[in-house]
Amino acid sequence: MTAPLLSISHLNAVTGRNGETPILRDVSLDIAAGEVHGLVGESGAGKSTIAKAILGILPRGIRIASGSIALEGVDLLTLDASSRRKLLGATVSLIPQDPLTALNPGRRIEAQLTDGLRLWRGLSAADARLRALQLLDEVQMAEPERVMKAFPHELSGGMRQRVLIAAAFALEPKLVIADEPTTALDVTVQKQILRLIRAMQERHGTGVVFVTHDLGVVAQICDRATLLYMGKTMEQGRVKDLLDAPRHPYTRALMDACPRYDQPGRGLAPVPETVFADCRAEIAAFDRERAGHV
Ligand SMILES: Nc1ncnc2c1ncn2[C@@H]1O[C@H](COP(=O)(O)OP(=O)(O)OP(=O)(O)O)[C@@H](O)[C@H]1O
Ligand SMILES: [Mg+2]
Repeated sequence: MTAPLLSISHLNAVTGRNGETPILRDVSLDIAAGEVHGLVGESGAGKSTIAKAILGILPRGIRIASGSIALEGVDLLTLDASSRRKLLGATVSLIPQDPLTALNPGRRIEAQLTDGLRLWRGLSAADARLRALQLLDEVQMAEPERVMKAFPHELSGGMRQRVLIAAAFALEPKLVIADEPTTALDVTVQKQILRLIRAMQERHGTGVVFVTHDLGVVAQICDRATLLYMGKTMEQGRVKDLLDAPRHPYTRALMDACPRYDQPGRGLAPVPETVFADCRAEIAAFDRERAGHV
């Protein structure tokens, strides 16, 4: 059997002076080529920590205590910094949450799209420009020539996010990490951008890690998902199964708390405190059992 595109296995991340506070608790997940995997959960669940751990950009305060993150069978955590950067640069890219801060305000879109193509793919200026125009066309940008000449502040939020999607797919990555890529956008634009990311990843056969707190978004774009609470997996599986027959109360509560496009006007129920209390109890039991084992 060939290795999955990405395989995270028993990943534990900690913070605190002596690493006493767990941030990720034994997280495991596999992503196949061409599959979109959602990381879902409330604020602080550890979604971005997983994304950053893959990209090797964890903040100073957080470190990996154990586990592995394998990209096509190569454990990123055992590579030295330079080999890791090389491998990631060639295979993984990021669609960030806030398109404005992710773009350099002082440079035209053309420069920002062509830099990577020239640096990583060795394209000539003319070829990089052609490819950039093609990419803008692929992300259904109107007037690509005009956009190439524009500075980021001259574009709308949705257009900026299209530029970043073009940039993310420019180097034909095998894996794209999208961390809440539509949170900063209004609802109509959000839907268009989700459809666009799905279309791009299908066309290019790219695997995607899709971070979101919104199960409605998961339903729209993900094949599989991992539901996290306090850095621990509460439920994991095919999105269809999760939504048709949620097994964990946390999943059910998140479903009740999110708007349903197929049931407009349905009242939203906030996640009941008892559900969180049960999750915390489950996590405390997990921590106790683990402490007993070491
Ligand atoms: N630099 C840091 N040092 C120590 N702890 C941190 C640091 N950054 C984040 N954390 C903690 O790690 C945990 C997970 O944070 P993370 O950012 O991964 O959550 P998230 O699921 O992405 O949340 P959000 O939806 O708010 O983006 C939180 O408890 C957070 O307080
Ligand atoms: Mg986050």
